[in-house]
Amino acid sequence: MNILVTGANGQLGEEIKRKVNEIGNGHPDHDSSEANYYIFTDRDELDITDEKAVDKFVKENFVNVIVNCAAYTNVDKAQEDRDLAYSLNALGPLNLALAAKAVGAVLIHISTDYVFGGTYNTPLPPIEQTDPAFVPADKDKNFYGYSKMVGEDLIQQSGCKYLIFRTSWLYSSHHKNFVKTMYNLKKKGASPKVVYDQVGSPTSAENLADFLVWIIESNTSETRYLSKQGVYNFANNGVASWYDLTMGVYGDNSAIVNPCRSEEYPSPVKRPNYSVLDVSLTEKTFDYDIHYWRFALNNVIYELETQEQ
Ligand SMILES: NC(=O)c1ccc[n+]([C@@H]2O[C@H](COP(=O)([O-])OP(=O)(O)OC[C@H]3O[C@@H](n4cnc5c(N)ncnc54)[C@H](OP(=O)(O)O)[C@@H]3O)[C@@H](O)[C@H]2O)c1
Repeated sequence: MNILVTGANGQLGEEIKRKVNEIGNGHPDHDSSEANYYIFTDRDELDITDEKAVDKFVKENFVNVIVNCAAYTNVDKAQEDRDLAYSLNALGPLNLALAAKAVGAVLIHISTDYVFGGTYNTPLPPIEQTDPAFVPADKDKNFYGYSKMVGEDLIQQSGCKYLIFRTSWLYSSHHKNFVKTMYNLKKKGASPKVVYDQVGSPTSAENLADFLVWIIESNTSETRYLSKQGVYNFANNGVASWYDLTMGVYGDNSAIVNPCRSEEYPSPVKRPNYSVLDVSLTEKTFDYDIHYWRFALNNVIYELETQEQ
């Protein structure tokens, strides 16, 4: 199979590259003597907002699977930069879906817990995909979440074969993310104030990348993972507030982390205060055990420490 990865220089894309390098790009497929070959592109090689370019690229490269990691991910800036956020998060996925449909390819698309707009009274059980309490993100208060929601809808209406994975609170040892910011603050001996009333599922980008490559590499005529069309959740198991996550980063120094409420950090965006993702359907469907968040975090902290040596 030929596998196109878009937005491959981003946080998740880099982790997919790393995983593919580990297993070897172009190694033999499980099912036949054919090889799986990954094609990594970012904006310069393939702009997903360019419908014609996407269609041409997919046809010319005989693409069988598209993994869409390209997105507009600056949540606060999306409130102002609406046209660009919409074109990347809603229309880009539609372009990929139409190109996939034209050649019978499967689109694996990454979405977000921020498609949830609701404010819940915590504690609550984790949210399943079909949760009746689902309230979509409000266009005015969370344009990022709204644009990602439209992207999901357009893919589902396009008639292409798809797998959508909603993930949440993504972090890694590279790129700009919350865990790295807290890690650097800890190194400086800073004493941050962190919100405890937003609760979700922190997710290691490396763990998500491993899972995505697993689905592709373990897709056989028996497992048929790529045919399990639907909207799924992928997050590390467990529950944490941003404060808990910071405590995990600070470890022995956690006494100097100060809990506060969201209202102390005024934001133009209304983020869901509760977005714990239930991953049991994903684990069952793809026969895959997802790590608990503390375990995943420890691995990333170890990498950050190793990078310094
Ligand atoms: N980060 C999180 O906390 C989080 C949480 C939940 C869900 N997600 C979802 O997870 C996915 C991966 O997120 P991430 O953190 O890896 O995002 P990221 O680091 O922002 O990566 C996105 C990549 O897409 C590229 N890109 C921008 N415009 C493009 C275009 N027109 N065509 C092709 N590529 C383009 C970006 O390039 P530039 O850097 O040059 O713009 C960047 O390399 C996204 O769908 C995101 O919505 C993320």
